[in-house]
This record gives sequence, structure tokens and C-alpha cells, in this order.
Amino acid sequence: MKLIVVGGGGREHAIIKKLKENKTVEKIYALPGNGGIAEDAECIDIKATDIEGIVSFAVHHDIDYAVVAPDDPLVLGCVDALNFVGIPCFGPTASAAIIEGSKAFAKDLMKKYGIPTAKYETFDDAEKALEYVRNAPLPTVIKADGLALGKGVIIAETREDAEAAVRSIMEDKRFGRSGDRIVIEEFLEGPEVSVLSFTDGETVVPMISSMDHKRAKDGDKGLNTGGMGTVAPNPYYTEEVAAECMEKIFLPTVKAMRAEGRTFKGCLYFGLMITNDGPKVIEYNCRFGDPETQVVLPLLESDLLTVMKATTEGRLAETEVKWSKKHACCVIAASKGYPEHYEKGFELTLPADRDGVYVAGAVKKDGRLLTSGGRVIGVTRVADTLEKAIEEAYRALDDVGFENKYYRTDIGKRALQAREK
Ligand code: AMP
Ligand code: GLY
Repeated sequence: MKLIVVGGGGREHAIIKKLKENKTVEKIYALPGNGGIAEDAECIDIKATDIEGIVSFAVHHDIDYAVVAPDDPLVLGCVDALNFVGIPCFGPTASAAIIEGSKAFAKDLMKKYGIPTAKYETFDDAEKALEYVRNAPLPTVIKADGLALGKGVIIAETREDAEAAVRSIMEDKRFGRSGDRIVIEEFLEGPEVSVLSFTDGETVVPMISSMDHKRAKDGDKGLNTGGMGTVAPNPYYTEEVAAECMEKIFLPTVKAMRAEGRTFKGCLYFGLMITNDGPKVIEYNCRFGDPETQVVLPLLESDLLTVMKATTEGRLAETEVKWSKKHACCVIAASKGYPEHYEKGFELTLPADRDGVYVAGAVKKDGRLLTSGGRVIGVTRVADTLEKAIEEAYRALDDVGFENKYYRTDIGKRALQAREK
């Protein structure tokens, strides 16, 4: 089998390493991949959003199967375009990827089908939105409708902040066209849980739950980032919560998408908040999470390619998906200053043991690896206990070298505390 994996971050590195475990895989191309991924796949300099380029490459290289990992090519119809030339894919078509591509769509879907989520209003008009926030309860949550690299959510504590957020999204176009429309929603409280799932449009197979650490600094302080670390499983996701999520959220969502003529196949990511009124959906993603994937896939005992193909072919109900009972912790090392201004181009050295080492932002130049992004690398360790997984991940991170290396020192701490309660 010859595969392409579209994307070039730590998530894609984790997917590629797992796919390589399948003996029928002869070749994996990463489009575009990165300098670190180059150890595990042939990287081709085609952007993840260059749909024409991706299709043309796949056709000329007799690709048997494609995995489209990031949100933007999915929303742009990369899967539709590859399917059109006869290449089967893991990932939703554009009509289903809208569940992440438009927050207004997702909210309306949940309202129509009674799926628990925060109360909300949608606005196309800045004046009407401003009038609304002048009377809305505080804090209030303001979200750009479209994709915004995980940064399109502002939690406003004061009326001034709420008005400023509306203006910056709708008038100053801080997130470009993604902010033509906004969703303003009720502020919810409770621990957050990420649940990625495989779904073929009928059957939902949840993966191991995980906990992201979105804020840049220790103690969940600082700006929101793409994610500074993850642990799995998430202690807040008890068996009871899982059963409630399956009945009230997971199956109804997949059924609703089918009813709307937007059958979702691929990885559907449920961003959940466990409130006093039960679990509620904070967001849907139409793809694997980054860095959730870096703790979830190392705990998958079944063969990833087999499960992915069953998802594509509608055979999930008859496919066994087995998970390890162990714990995983992934700590991200970023460039100092991320998610704002940071420097790049520093030499990157990797731990000798590459197991669980996922490169997110690096380029290869004259045989050397140089940092090229905000999030540079993630290191995952799997162990019998969460304590051990955390300790080993941090120890491995000591062997990652680059100038201006920055990481949170408390990944997994909240999960440890949660268990003591
Ligand atoms: P999102 O990009 O939608 O996942 O939002 C980013 C983060 O904002 C989430 O992980 C939550 O921590 C927070 N958030 C989003 N919506 C709400 C809400 N309605 N109430 C409280 N926090 C929220
Ligand atoms: N880590 C959050 C996301 O992938 O959206």
C-alpha cells in the first residue's frame, strides 16, 4: 500500500508512526510533512491547502489511500477531490467538515436535534451583536464562525471586553472572513474532556479520552494556544459520563449529520465540558486533535490503518478497536514567545530514543534540523501510572535541545489532582 498523509505537524507525525506499524504499508508520503517527519515518511513540498497539487501528486504516484488530517483541507473539500479521482480517504467530505468549519452550523445542528450545548445567538451584523452584548450575562463567550487556528474564541469578563471582542472580530476582521459571522454564547463551567472518535456515519467508536492544556503558561494562565500538552485517559471521563455522552451526544450527532444529508466519516472530535447539568458540547472538530492524537494513538493496540479503512468503508460495527489500559503524557516544547512572537531557525537535537517523539515545527537544512514553528516538538511517554508517564515524558524532554525552548512544567497536574478528589 502506498499512502499519503496530508498535513505537517506533531499530529501527522503521530499518525504516520502508527500507520508504519502495518506491514502492508510500503511507502508513506507526507504533504508537506516537516524536517522531523522526514525520518518516517518522504516529505513532498505541497501545501496542505493545495488541493489540486495533492490530487495531482496522488494520481501520479498510484496512491492507494489518503489520510487528510488538518481542518482546512477537509473544509476545502480535499476528500471530495481525492474521492473524485477514485482514491479512498480517511476524513469527512466538505459537506460534513462544516461541523467544524462553521460554529453557527454546529450550534444550529445541536439546537435542532436536542444535543446539549451552551445557549447562544448568532450575528451577521456588528451593531446587533454590540447591542446584544450590552445586556448579555457576564462572562460571555464570543466566537468567530469560521476556522481561526483554535484562537477564535474570546471569553469576555467585562462589557468593555465583550464590545472590543465583537469589534475586533467583525469590524477589524482579526480572523479574516471567519469573523463575518459570530456566535455569542453562555459561559459554561466544569472540567473539559476531549473525546476523539472513529465514525463511519452510523457506528461511533470513541477513542481513549484525553485532557488538553490549552493555555500557554503553568496554572492554566496566559493566552490560548493550539495545546501545550495532553494526558490520557482523562480522569473526569468516568464510565457514567461516557455512557451519557454516547447516548445524548455522540450517537445523536452522527445521526443528525446523516439526517441532514451530511454523513460524517472519519475522526469526529467532541470537545466536552462536564457541567453540573451533565456533559455539554463546547466544540466539534472534524479531525484528530493536536496534541490529543499524540497521547491517544500510542494507546491504540489495534492496527490504525485497518480501523481507518473500516471507517471509510462503513465496516466499523464489525471491527475490533482495542485500547491499552496504560497512561500517556505528551509535553510540547515550544519556541519562547509562542503563541505571539517567537524566533526560529535554531538547531534542534532529538532524544536518541525516537519512540513517542513527534516533531511539529522543524525544517531540514544542510543535514541539520532547525526549528521552524511555535510548537516545535512533543514528547510522549506511556507508562502503567499517570505519575510515571508524566515523569518519563519530562525526562525525555530534557534530551530535546534548542535555543529558546519553552514548555509548561505542570502538564498532567490537574489530572493527578482530580483523581485525589
Ligand atoms: P474552542 O476553540 O471552541 O474549543 O474554545 C477554546 C476554549 O475556550 C475551550 O477549550 C474552553 O476552555 C473555552 N470555551 C469555549 N466555549 C466556552 C463556553 N461556552 N464556556 C466556557 N468556556 C468556553
Ligand atoms: N488541541 C485542540 C485541537 O486540536 O483543536
